Amino acid sequence: MSSPRWLRRAGAPRLEFGADYNPDQWPRAVWDEDVQHMRTAGVTIVSLAIFSWAKLEPAEGEYDFAWLDDAIDLLHANGISVDLATATASPPPWLTAAYPEILPVDREGHTIWPGGRQQWRPTSPIFREHALRLVRALADRYKEHPAVVAWHVSNELGCHNVYDYSDDAARAFRVWLRDKYATLDELNDAWGTAFWSQRYTAWDEIIPPRLAATHPNPGQQLDFKRFSSDALLAYLRAEKEILREITPDIPVTTNFMVMGETKGMDYAAWADEVDFVSNDHYRLPGPQSVDELSFSANLTGNLAGGQPWFLMEHSTSAVNWQPVNVPKKDGELARDSLTHVAHGADAVCFFQWRQSRAGAEKYHSAMLPHAGADSDLFRAVTALGAQLATLSELAGTPRTRARAAILFDWPSWWASELDSHPTDRLRYRQEALDWYTTFLNLGVRADVVPLGAPLEEYDVLVAPVLHIVPADLAKRLDAYVSAGGHLVTTYFSGIVDEHDHVWLGGYPGALRDLLGIRIEEFAPLLDGETAPLSNGTTGTLWTDRIDLTDPAVDVLASYETGELAGRPAVTRRAVGNGSAAYVSSRLGPEGLAPVLTTLLERAGVPSDLPAELRGKVELAQRGDFRFVLNRTDEPIDISALGATEATLPARGVAVIRA
Ligand code: GAL
Repeated sequence: MSSPRWLRRAGAPRLEFGADYNPDQWPRAVWDEDVQHMRTAGVTIVSLAIFSWAKLEPAEGEYDFAWLDDAIDLLHANGISVDLATATASPPPWLTAAYPEILPVDREGHTIWPGGRQQWRPTSPIFREHALRLVRALADRYKEHPAVVAWHVSNELGCHNVYDYSDDAARAFRVWLRDKYATLDELNDAWGTAFWSQRYTAWDEIIPPRLAATHPNPGQQLDFKRFSSDALLAYLRAEKEILREITPDIPVTTNFMVMGETKGMDYAAWADEVDFVSNDHYRLPGPQSVDELSFSANLTGNLAGGQPWFLMEHSTSAVNWQPVNVPKKDGELARDSLTHVAHGADAVCFFQWRQSRAGAEKYHSAMLPHAGADSDLFRAVTALGAQLATLSELAGTPRTRARAAILFDWPSWWASELDSHPTDRLRYRQEALDWYTTFLNLGVRADVVPLGAPLEEYDVLVAPVLHIVPADLAKRLDAYVSAGGHLVTTYFSGIVDEHDHVWLGGYPGALRDLLGIRIEEFAPLLDGETAPLSNGTTGTLWTDRIDLTDPAVDVLASYETGELAGRPAVTRRAVGNGSAAYVSSRLGPEGLAPVLTTLLERAGVPSDLPAELRGKVELAQRGDFRFVLNRTDEPIDISALGATEATLPARGVAVIRA
């Protein structure tokens, strides 16, 4: 992010607090009650009109802004700012009925029909024409309104429509490919179309990777993923250009979805396109649920270049879209919110303000639940609002950079999980998360960073499954290690270049010399198979048959059994003051702990936590503020950290001022 801009608002800096507000779901009389409760809760901002297209434009070209004028004026009169949506997320039925050609098509050729939301093709010229006309009308209408402090483009771009295989997509894909490759010869080389008689002789022969007899060309698949992310980005830019033209002073954002397995959008490439980064995050069930929250918040903070960002949505309690939707436990609402704040969020907002009575999300929690204001949930919401108000001094403070980092790269995520690989069980984000959990357990702060981050500023850089390593990245990593950096990478890294072509001469091609190892054949493990290592840990998923090619390589652990018995499993090559280490199996947080402990010791990076707190709390830092976040369901004595409160309650948070 080159020059982030925050909300257009006067007054002292503060942490914003609020929600998506959908007054159009309620009778007018309810709105007055809404704003009263908002004031009680300490709400400072709401996102408005996200799904209001049908109400704002009830018939083609006929706009009805009266109700929105009323809602914005009411909020303004009560001191509540508006993050105004462009309302283009979900086209109204009249539009899709009149122009069914805007509906997306899946890889099997099925139309995605209206009835849900986001049923539009990112590349549809007709959709764009109608949506941009609405954006222009909204911007013209509200350009002077003092309540409007930010623009919220669409909503969660790509949540349901990132991969569209329609004819519009095919046409736009060809344009994108021509731009990238210029000639068909270049494209044929890049996609390796000499294989299976796939050579193209005209651009029009190229289609998206629709359902094929067997595995579609991997180059075509990877480029289609890149293209699909870019197509949405192009749409974001189109809305942004109009907003810029009419309201140059109002910053523009769109809510990212840095969470879980949502992977279609390369947010590292998107972050520079918004005036400030905003994100939606929902807790996922499982043993690493809290760590995943921290990981996502951390990555979002680093996508924002360390600058403050906006938590646009999370939930006060249960969601409605998991198989079983459990409520949050006491303390989680505040702990989860403050975890985002600890990683740089200057706004804590929820989906949504008032829990719906009807529609698909009526069982999704909100700030004001079905039970009403006389509820534990609303009291917890109000307490959080009050707590955020006490932390207003924090607003604007950037994240404090850690000494270690985990590299996160969307194209490597995409490429490493393509089909026809040594295993289809590999999960890129899970491996990255396992390293993050290990750092948390050791009490060592680590940033989760995109490739564009200043990698050279970190003492330790973990690059899990960095599958795509083009020549320039290999050079960059080489230079990093030569300058004294400590690089750690894993199985299936450094294997291919930007075109998904294998680096020859033995794996991990691009990193082979740097690591001082050579692998002839991968040896993935079957489900249930394990690989015991000499350090007492156990690998799953993957093993490699490693030969050492440099006498300076230390073997930190070797395989104990089977074909690979006695061969290296974890290696480290010292290079001047730096080093390059390799972990050839999936060790999980438990198995990674001894390995990372050794690597951190050798790199001279100590734990930030006393031994008794490791594995229990997360320590995060923004300037003079340290956040101690209880990751467990037990109270913890944190007197060793100099907090005023000696005991952190279960799921509690202490904020310590330096
Ligand atoms: C998000 C979306 C919201 C709401 C929420 C429910 O994906 O932006 O509109 O649907 O999920 O968790």
